[in-house]
Amino acid sequence: MAITWDPSRYEEFTDERMRPFMDLMARVGADSPGLVLDLGCGNGLATLRLAERWPEARIVGIDSSPEMLAAARERDTEGRVEWVEADLADWRIEDVGAAPDVIVSNATLQWVPRHLVLMETWLDALAPGGWFALQVPGNFDAPTHALMREAAVEHPRSGELEAASTRYGAGDPATYLQILSSHGLAVDAWETIYTHVLDPAGERENPVLDWVGGTGLRLMLEVLEEGEEREAFRETYAEKIKAAYPRTPAGVLLPFRRVFAVGHKS
Ligand SMILES: C[S@@+](CC[C@H](N)C(=O)[O-])C[C@H]1O[C@@H](n2cnc3c(N)ncnc32)[C@H](O)[C@@H]1O
Repeated sequence: MAITWDPSRYEEFTDERMRPFMDLMARVGADSPGLVLDLGCGNGLATLRLAERWPEARIVGIDSSPEMLAAARERDTEGRVEWVEADLADWRIEDVGAAPDVIVSNATLQWVPRHLVLMETWLDALAPGGWFALQVPGNFDAPTHALMREAAVEHPRSGELEAASTRYGAGDPATYLQILSSHGLAVDAWETIYTHVLDPAGERENPVLDWVGGTGLRLMLEVLEEGEEREAFRETYAEKIKAAYPRTPAGVLLPFRRVFAVGHKS
């Protein structure tokens, strides 16, 4: 079952979500690529940054969510990007018709089963001199996710909820470094823990819940019946998360670990 993305929820924390993308792309040294692919392009905000950076390049954004792609198309007022609806699990890179010079995937591969294997075919397709850049969250043991699993264990439908929670996963920097270097790329892999300051103005009841509601919590909620059953689970989780991330004078602090890898094919 594919989860349904809500672009407006996802866009609530745009600055915080864009920062890792900017940090990732700062390590990509491509000067004038011909073809740039954005795997899991989402609402297109990051993809359009690629179009700005490389105005001559052909840019293709691939995503499985019709809702996210609709937001992306609306944002792309000049029609700079080719938007493609496809599930990366069965999308064929040959279909773009040329060897890509840059492949970017930001905050997506954790949703794609067997992505470590899929990456190998993408790396094989990369043009000589090409760049591969990925960023995935590495926060699956953080309270945001541990408390989701805790709420699931306590639920009458715990089996289904737990199954949903194991549908995502990502590697460590060394995992990606080894895959990229085994394909002949020179690799820069690292991790960062951002301390996001959510809702400094104190306008939100539970800002971490709002953040997770735009991404990880969706998998669990979609297992449950819309209405009372979903709301009860959300409330149980909301209480736990509010206690785990108390408000400070600066705002609500959300430490967030992310994993990065950039490879350059010689
Ligand atoms: C967290 S968003 C990131 C979007 C964008 N890269 C960004 O940096 O803002 C994850 C995106 O991955 C997409 N996605 C998840 N699983 C996918 C799959 N199997 N194939 C293609 N896209 C997928 C979702 O639809 C969503 O748009």
